[in-house]
Order: sequence, then C-alpha cells, then structure tokens
Amino acid sequence: MSATMQSRGEAATIAILGASGDLTQRKLVPALHSLACAGLLSPSLRVIGVARSELSDEAFRDRLDDGVTRYARLNSGACEQWDDFASRYTYMSGDYDDPETYRRLGERLAALDVTAGTEGNALFYLATPPTLSPLIIEQIGRAGLNHSDRGWRRVIIEKPFGHDLESAQKLNEQVHAVFDEDQVYRIDHYLGKETVQNIMTFRFANAIFEPLWNRNYVESVQITMAESIGVGHRAGYYDRAGVQRDMLQNHLLQLLTLVAMEPPSAFNARSLRDEKVKVLQAVRPVASEDLVLGQYEGYLNDKGVAPGSKTATYVALKLLIDNWRWRGVPFYLRSGKNMSGKMTEITLQFKQVPHLLFPESVDLATNSLSLCVQPDEGMHLIFQTKLPGAGMRTAPVDMEFHYRDQFGERVLPEAYERLLLDALQGDASLFARSDEIEVAWRLVDPLTLEREPVSYAAGSRGPVEADALLAREGHRWVMGCEHGG
Ligand code: BG6
Repeated sequence: MSATMQSRGEAATIAILGASGDLTQRKLVPALHSLACAGLLSPSLRVIGVARSELSDEAFRDRLDDGVTRYARLNSGACEQWDDFASRYTYMSGDYDDPETYRRLGERLAALDVTAGTEGNALFYLATPPTLSPLIIEQIGRAGLNHSDRGWRRVIIEKPFGHDLESAQKLNEQVHAVFDEDQVYRIDHYLGKETVQNIMTFRFANAIFEPLWNRNYVESVQITMAESIGVGHRAGYYDRAGVQRDMLQNHLLQLLTLVAMEPPSAFNARSLRDEKVKVLQAVRPVASEDLVLGQYEGYLNDKGVAPGSKTATYVALKLLIDNWRWRGVPFYLRSGKNMSGKMTEITLQFKQVPHLLFPESVDLATNSLSLCVQPDEGMHLIFQTKLPGAGMRTAPVDMEFHYRDQFGERVLPEAYERLLLDALQGDASLFARSDEIEVAWRLVDPLTLEREPVSYAAGSRGPVEADALLAREGHRWVMGCEHGG
C-alpha cells in the first residue's frame, strides 16, 4: 500500500454528484475538512458539488459548515485552514440525465485547471442513489470526462454495488464501458477503519501470531457486527436489502477476507485484492441449516416497511473455507440491528491444550484473541494463569491494549478520511475490485432467498437460534472485547 496518512493527496477537483445529500454533509466534507486540518490535502484541491436542487455557493457552503461543525473529527474552530478551505467549494445544479450538466461540469473542470492548478485531475464521487450510477457513468463517458490528456480521472462508487450477482455484473460492465478498472474505486467504508487495517499489521508485522493463525491452533473464528440502532428512516432502502445485502455481502465478508487471506506478496492493490478474492473463492456454499435469519420485534411497524415483510435485520451463519490453512475451522459471522449495543469485533478461539496437566482445572478455558474494531478500539488476549496459593488452580486473565490509552483520544482518522486520501493518491488497495464484488455476491445470493425470519427482542443479543447454531458444535458466542466477556 503506497499511501500513508503522512503523504499528501494530489492536486485535483473532486466532483461530488449528489452533493446536497446526507453523505456529503455528514461524511465526505467533514472528512475532507479533517484531512485539510492535518495538512494532507493539496492547496490546489477543489470541490464542485453537483445536485438537482437550486442552491447558491453560499447556501451550499453554509450546509457544509454545519456538517463540519457537527461531524468532523477535527472541528472547524481547531483548524486554521477552514476559511481558505471553505472557499474551495462551489456548487452547480443540474439534472443527472441532461448532457448539458456534464458539458458545464467539463467547462468548470477545465477552468479550475487554469485558475487553481488542478493538473487535469478529477475524481468523480457518486454520492447519489445506486439506481442513478449507470446513468451518471454513461453521461460522464459521453461528455468525454472519463479521460484527460493532462491528468488522471477516477470514479468512486458507493455501496451497495448491485443488488445481486446479476445486477453487479451488469453494473461492472456499464462501468467498464467508460472507465478502466484501475480508475474505479468501489467504497466499503469498513476498509477505511483504522482498526480494520490493523488486522493486516497485526498479522503481518508480528512474527508471533501468524504461526498460530491456522487450523492447527484455531478452533473457531467469530466476527460480530452488532448495532443498537434500528433501520430508522432508511426503511425504504433497507426493506429491499436486508442485512445480507446491507452488511454481509460487503462489510462482514471484507473482514473475513482480511482475517483469513494468505499473506500477500506485497502491499499493493493488486496483490492484496488477489489474496482476498482467493479466499472468497475457497468459501464453501453455506448450508441452509448453517444460516439463521432474524427480524427484530417491532420492525413491521417501522415507517416504510412493507406489510408482512420477511426482511431479515439479523443474520448469523457458519462458513467453511476449503483450503490448507482453514479446512474444518468454522467461521461464525453475525450482524444485527437493534441489538443490545454497538460493537464490531473479531475473535479467534484457540484449541484446548493437548493434555491437561492440572486436574483442578478440568474446565480450562481456551485462549482467545479478540480484535476490537469499534467502539473501544483495541485488542484482548485471554490466557490462563495460576491462581495464587496452594495447589495448581488456574484462572483466565485478560491482557488488553487500547488505542486511546496508547495514542490518545481522537487520533483514529474517520474511514472516509483514509479512503478519500487514498483515492486522491491513486491507491485502490482499500477498495473492492470488480471480481471481488462478484465472488461475494455469488456467495450471498443464495442467502437472500426469502424465508421466514425468527424474531428477536429489540435491545437483545439476537435470536436464541443463533446460540444453538454454535452450541451444536460445542461453541458459544463470546464478547471478547467486553473485558473477556
Ligand atoms: C452501512 C450500512 O454500510 O454501515 C448501515 O448501510 C450500517 O446499515 C452502517 O448502519 C454501519 O457502519 P458503522 O461504521 O457505523 O459501523
């Protein structure tokens, strides 16, 4: 991976399509602001917001200012560059299906080359509803904005990328008709999370863990992504997507690939994504008895949910990876809305020792290692220690590492900071490649077939059926980041 948080993004114009929406105000501009505060943006970076609504530049900037104040990691008061930075934003309204919009956008890009020195570079950010992506990409191509004689042209596409395998393949074709693959950046914001990237550092920058990272020592692996919020005002989208498309096809499988992949030969986009694809290809199709789908009580009353909807808001499943490293090791994945708390963690449960020497410790707990992605970013390692005193009784203890203790509060960049910077530096390592998206859909498609979800209480730890899934094999869900839970 060539990008580091230390080197600066290249001069460019970012054209945000869908600039009047939530994503721009809550995520993109606050992330750009924090990058600017940290001195990581080129002084020549410019942003053109494009959307249908009529807005003046001033009204647009007011909105952005509000977003920065509310959501930026480094707030506007703390950043001297804010005045200068705000003046980099301009706005233009236009219909996405009108060629005139793209002709004017092209003119503005050319003008900024001259006035701001953006060097012909442009990054198109599709912050628009997914249904508009093919149309916008086609129009960008028709207007000839996909190539520049002087600089680079790139496009960032938000998730969901397709609704199933067939639509994702079609979308990939439409994208490839206009952009080469190396111009395309498909976002999965989990890959921008510092603690997710740390999975790779942890595995490949330490000599002591990787030798244990296989079927000889690992009994099972768990990945949990729990959320305390329900679907809120997003029911219109969510009711058609369900947790399988919203979380499993992308975020959960991305974490799985980072945990399970072989070491890449180099840290660059190609080697890394080759390994991720390989591991996804080795995942065995999920047996129907290894899948639990749940729906929280009260979901059917949420505004925008279809009457009698069978959409799952919770999924738990067992995956098996048919390769030399993981053969026979169950990977348990789960994600749900409206659960008891928000937390994302990965736990490796190690095998029992081969021979119990200490008769007083017949139920010796096994070692486990938990990588805590959020909210309490860090790591827990559970191991046995002798209880002080006579005899040889043992007890598990928890060795912890927390980012905030080591590095302080607010040091972890927001996911979008990292991803925007990488895209400005031409590093696609943390973005999904077309084949990766397709293999993931191939795996998830069969899991989206309609079936009656079991219900679970809002604010709970999910349906009991998910406990039974693990109990069948003598396993149980752990909350390793809750002090060894
Ligand atoms: C999004 C999903 O991709 O990720 C949302 O569409 C979900 O449903 C969100 O709430 C979770 O992201 P984070 O970063 O808050 O864990």
